This record gives sequence, C-alpha cells and structure tokens, in this order.
Amino acid sequence: MISTPPLSAGQFFNTSDGRFQSVYLDSPHSFSGLEGQDVIEGLTQAPKVLPPKYFYDDRGSQLFEQICGLPEYYPTRTEAWILQHYAPEIAEITGPCQLIELGSGSSTKTRLLLDAYQAQGYPLYYQPIDVSAGMLADSAAQLLTDYPTLQVQALVGTYDQALTALPPASAPRLLLFLGSSLGNFTPLECDQFFAQVTTVLEPGDYFLLGIDLQKDRAILEAAYNDHQGVTAAFNVNMLAHLNYRFAGNFNLEAFHHQAIYNPGDCQIEMYLHCRQPQSVRLKALDLSLDLARGDSIRTEISRKFNLEHMQGYLQAQGLSPLLTWVDSQHWFGMILCRL
Ligand SMILES: C[S@@+](CC[C@H](N)C(=O)[O-])C[C@H]1O[C@@H](n2cnc3c(N)ncnc32)[C@H](O)[C@@H]1O
Repeated sequence: MISTPPLSAGQFFNTSDGRFQSVYLDSPHSFSGLEGQDVIEGLTQAPKVLPPKYFYDDRGSQLFEQICGLPEYYPTRTEAWILQHYAPEIAEITGPCQLIELGSGSSTKTRLLLDAYQAQGYPLYYQPIDVSAGMLADSAAQLLTDYPTLQVQALVGTYDQALTALPPASAPRLLLFLGSSLGNFTPLECDQFFAQVTTVLEPGDYFLLGIDLQKDRAILEAAYNDHQGVTAAFNVNMLAHLNYRFAGNFNLEAFHHQAIYNPGDCQIEMYLHCRQPQSVRLKALDLSLDLARGDSIRTEISRKFNLEHMQGYLQAQGLSPLLTWVDSQHWFGMILCRL
C-alpha cells in the first residue's frame, strides 16, 4: 500500500523503485489558491449551487464506488461493456500511448485499456488525475501490484490545474475522460474545458470520451434515486465534507436528496432540500447564510447527450472523431478523437 505523506503544492512523492510518483498540484487541503471561493459564490447566488468536486472526499469516493455497483446505476457497467469489447481496437488505432485520465477515481474501467495496451506489448504509462488524493493513492497502489511494468504519475488536483500543469510528453498521449463526467459541465464550462484540452494536446494525440446518452426519463431518474439510498448519502456527504473542510455547521439531518430530470436542458439535476430553517456558518470562509424550509442547493447537473450532436461539437472544437461505439441499448457512447 502506498501512503503519501501530506505534501504542499508542487511537492511530490516517489517510491524507491521509481514506478510511482504523486504530485500535488495544490496543497492537500486546498483545491486552489482561492480555496472555497467557489463555495462562497455558489451559496450566495440564486439558485444556490455547489461544485460537484466537493462530493469527493474519501467517504464520497467510497460512496461513488458503491453507486457504480448499484442495479439502477447503468452508466458504469454500460461504459465498461463498451471498453470490454472495444479496448483492443482502441489500442490498435492509437499504438503505444501515454494514458492520462481526468477524474480517474478507482481506475477500474481504465484497467480494460491497460490490459489491451499490455496485450499489444506496449510500454504502460499512466497519469491519473483526481481531486480525491486517498482514492488516487489506493488505486495507484493496486495498479502497480497488478501491472508489474506499469509506471504511474498521479496528479492530485482539479482538471483545470492538471491541464495547466501537464508536462510535455515524450510519446503520443491518449487523454481519457470517462464516466460521462463531461455531463457535470454547463455548456459554457464545456467550451472552456475543450479550449484547454485542445491547447494541451498536440497534433497526433488522442482523446477518448465516455458520454451518457438521452433516454427514457424513468431510467434516468431511477439511476440517481436508488432504492438503497446510497446516492442520497453521497449527496448529503458533500455538506459533511464542507463542514470539516471549512469549519461549518450544516445540519445534515435537515436535508433530503432529490434527483429529477429536466427535459428542457436534457439533464439530471441533483438537489439537497432544506427541511427546517437553519443558520449556517462556514467559519473558515467567513460565510453565514440563513436557509429557510424548502430552500434548495443544486449539487450536480448530469447532462445527457445526443451522440451525433456531440460528434459535431467535438469536430467544431478541433478534435476529429475517428470512431464511435455504443452499447446494444444505445444508452452510453464512447468517442475516440484525434487532434
Ligand atoms: C463521476 S466520478 C468518475 C470516476 C471514473 N472516471 C469513472 O468513470 O468511474 C468523477 C471523478 O472525478 C473526480 N473529480 C470530480 N471533479 C473533479 C475536478 N474538478 N477535478 C479533478 N477531479 C475531479 C472525482 O474525485 C471522481 O473520482
């Protein structure tokens, strides 16, 4: 097991065999120099919103892993099915590549790609990027055990920080953005994200995108309102995270979870509704707010895409779609692009 000591921004940690390096793009207790500014902005605007990255402290990452295995949560197993079937083709098309992954989480599906690259006899190099330092360290440790020739450089930080800090590569790169995490971005954030991606990638680099597709409302809403209440616990955990991170006093018992599909914007919207009035103070941010009964905080959007529109959008962003795969129900799509 790798345990990375607390590091300051820019510091890194190496294992003695040189196969693992972990780089903190920011201090371990801060997502950016403007720590918590996005919380202040989100909670003082109408409607109130919080950035989904705050879901992912250690407990949130564990809950997300549980969500991935729930019967209602089809995205993970559907995307995995696509990779089980097409990862060898992806490896053949790209040839030897450095794999870089934004929001890598447990890297479980990435293993299907690593298997395919290994089967081709390509050298294995993986750069996972995630805000969840604990999950990153644990998944890297497992990968290093399971793939004896694998080199891992883990970057702890946000997508934005990582895309700004990515070192130049000595080989073509395959940038992975799986799990339909793109769906958490507003259209404007999507444009900003792709402007950054196309600046960082070089001609000949690849981009692999997994996206959740539009489908029946009942299937979508069931996926985010599971019977066991794991998604509800995941949602409320964001406030527990804010409480310890920013010395806050959200009364967790006073919130309930809701996820609804907004057909106008083709997106699932996840909310925390306040059941009783409360005065919230986040001491470390010098932020106080009064929440009334019925007040809501939107914690996530998860946009559902149309495959053809996305292909056209990617093309317009400067990424040429090469191949597209879907599962048999057309629930999830994967697009391989080249810059
Ligand atoms: C929906 S999960 C997807 C995990 C994995 N890629 C999968 O497909 O199962 C999103 C992952 O991205 C990370 N994450 C969320 N927002 C992030 C951000 N702004 N910057 C970096 N990582 C982020 C989370 O910690 C989590 O591991």
